[in-house]
Amino acid sequence: MSNSSTDMPSNNIPQHVAVIMDGNGRWAKLQGKTRVSGHKAGVETVRSTVTTARKLGIKALTVFAFSSENWRRPEKEVSVLMDLFMFVLTREVKRLHKHGIRFQVIGDLSRFSTKLQKNIHAAQQLTINNEGMVLSVAANYGGRWDITEAARKLAEKVANDELAASDITEESLNEHTSLANLPELDLLIRTGGDFRISNFLLWQAAYAEFYFTDTLWPDFNEQQFLQAIDVFDQRERRFGQTGEQVTVKNDNL
Ligand code: IPE
Ligand code: IPE
Ligand code: MG
Repeated sequence: MSNSSTDMPSNNIPQHVAVIMDGNGRWAKLQGKTRVSGHKAGVETVRSTVTTARKLGIKALTVFAFSSENWRRPEKEVSVLMDLFMFVLTREVKRLHKHGIRFQVIGDLSRFSTKLQKNIHAAQQLTINNEGMVLSVAANYGGRWDITEAARKLAEKVANDELAASDITEESLNEHTSLANLPELDLLIRTGGDFRISNFLLWQAAYAEFYFTDTLWPDFNEQQFLQAIDVFDQRERRFGQTGEQVTVKNDNL
């Protein structure tokens, strides 16, 4: 636990943190601005969150940028979001690389423009050997899509006689999901005041700790991130065991 909320927490740092970055539109509305300016402000929050995560020694940070359902938004907003994604990608990747961060996009990329797909691949290739932290950006991502893809890949292996159906296990399905090579998801943060998962990391969140805050994403600063980490530190993760079992185990560490 940290001494004060602005200090760096000293122990029990989550290895893998995911964030549902919600509230850009409402933030903009409150300021009398367009939704687009809310998304732009949100990009700055991604920047500071990446910096803090890196500083804390978090191994993996996964952020929800665009859901498979966000295509339902007005065409103009979708197109602005795509432009913004492209712009940020070109502007920020060198900086991420300089800081040793591995960058990847998870989600169904096939619906993006060829140019955007190319930029994503280039960014992933550039940073592929970095070992500092893994930043995964979920774009056109849906948790149901992720599990369905994994099932489809396993089915293909079965059809090709590479795998027996009876050998399908939680582990083998997990191996075919996004984020398979990262530490288990420890902490899932949602800003913007809603208490739902909106089809984010359904499979991966099985034993994640959830942290909800009313803060709108553009206002989510370092201090609030540290507050979430502090709350995580105070949680007792039992993974099905009793409180007594977990306490004994921790005392013996
Ligand atoms: C989250 O902010 C960003 C995206 C979904 C792209 P919203 O745009 O959902 O903001 P609200 O929820 O309308 O305030
Ligand atoms: C979730 O936010 C998706 C992202 C943050 C990218 P939404 O604003 O799309 O979620 P709902 O529609 O309120 O559930
Ligand atoms: Mg929203």
